[in-house]
Amino acid sequence: MSVIAVVGLATMGMNLARNLARNGFGVSVYNRTTSRVDDFMKQYGSEGAFTPAHTPEELVSQLEKPRRILIMVKAGPPVDDTIEHLAPYLEAGDILIDGGNSYFLDTVRRGKALEARGFRFIGTGVSGGEEGALNGPSIMPGGARDAYQQVEPMLTRISAHVDGEPCCTYIGPGGAGHYVKMVHNGIEYADIQLIAEAYDLLSHALELGAEDLSRIFAEWNKGDLESYLIQITSEVLAKRDRATGRPLVDVILDEAAQKGTGKWASQSALDLGIPVTAITEAVFARFLSALKADRQVASRTLAGADGAMRAPAPGSLVDDVRSALYASKMVAYAQGFEQMQAASNEYGWDLKLGAIARIWRGGCIIRARFLNRITDAYAESPGLKNLLLAPYFRDAMASAQDAWRRVLSVAVDRGIPVPAFSSSLAYYDAYRRERLPANLVQGLRDYFGAHTYKRIDREGSFHTRWSQDGEEVPVR
Ligand code: 6PG
Repeated sequence: MSVIAVVGLATMGMNLARNLARNGFGVSVYNRTTSRVDDFMKQYGSEGAFTPAHTPEELVSQLEKPRRILIMVKAGPPVDDTIEHLAPYLEAGDILIDGGNSYFLDTVRRGKALEARGFRFIGTGVSGGEEGALNGPSIMPGGARDAYQQVEPMLTRISAHVDGEPCCTYIGPGGAGHYVKMVHNGIEYADIQLIAEAYDLLSHALELGAEDLSRIFAEWNKGDLESYLIQITSEVLAKRDRATGRPLVDVILDEAAQKGTGKWASQSALDLGIPVTAITEAVFARFLSALKADRQVASRTLAGADGAMRAPAPGSLVDDVRSALYASKMVAYAQGFEQMQAASNEYGWDLKLGAIARIWRGGCIIRARFLNRITDAYAESPGLKNLLLAPYFRDAMASAQDAWRRVLSVAVDRGIPVPAFSSSLAYYDAYRRERLPANLVQGLRDYFGAHTYKRIDREGSFHTRWSQDGEEVPVR
């Protein structure tokens, strides 16, 4: 008998099945196109205790009870189709686990519907790409806690480990796991965009080639910025194209694609009223990149900057960009964690932000040295309102900010677009301002629409009859 089934044998499903088997778990494998099952068995069957299944009935008969079935299919309708394909053969108490990048409200809906039928449902984020799935991903499971307990030994065992701790923890009920994965992906978008801006800035302002830049990123990876994404940036920049002999990055088309999780993170933040400017700027930057034909026309039509400012010294600009990247990254994480806190309050999930940072230290795409700092910040101050207020982040921002501002001056002067760097600085400057110009926003709204305003010196709401007698009247 198998202790778990993996349904859906595309790359992620195959690699998770192999990871489970390598860790000693008996795994049944099934795919609706059954030739994939046979191909899988031919290729990997000898790696562990796999049992192939060719029908859902057969699959279900191979599993210990309560049955545990990990579904690894494309997010959206295929998840519902797969559930309906299996459900007729399941019994009350059986556990379905969706390990794809599902939209969290779909997970909430599926959880409720399956519970009403007596089944149990876990929606889990799995991060780390194909390599992580095989060798240890970061796992973010959400749903009923009793269902999680039935799969906890397997999930913690196959996850990445950092300092002996698994990168897997129960996240919360309902759609909490997929929500946290969605924010992870949003932060991934912001991280990637910031790296791309640093690359663009240095290559244009200092006319550095991909190989020089690769060395700079490798150097940065030895300090506070140490992370998977910085490391692979160095590797991507170092790669030469076999066909042309040029750096491969120079022949890759500059149109960024996306599957939608970053957009969902921004949409949810808009619904919650949380300013996640870095994630949203990164999503917009991908949209703008995709307008290649329009940009080609505009590049021949619109005037640019003349770069009249004094040229910065190369060494100091490189150091400044590193600081700007680190500062902007701190803003992106601070915003993402604030969004998760707001979602936790809204949906009653009781998210443990420090534990989330802990399971992101290994396995996932945004794994980074500085996630320890986030865990420490929440350990020291569990009710922390914004990460930037924690002593480590407060001091790191203070020491990075002069460089950050210099980098933006260079970018503006040269006409180099740095939307995520600049919106992160604007957020920082706005967040630390006691008084913003929203007083004027309120005045204008009241002028044209009698939308009312509050005063700094008295309780209540007020309206001024701006264009009539100029009198201010209290509004109830
Ligand atoms: C991960 C990634 C992964 C995501 C891809 C592509 O954690 O392993 O977040 O789940 O799907 O990175 O995302 P986009 O196609 O939207 O860039």
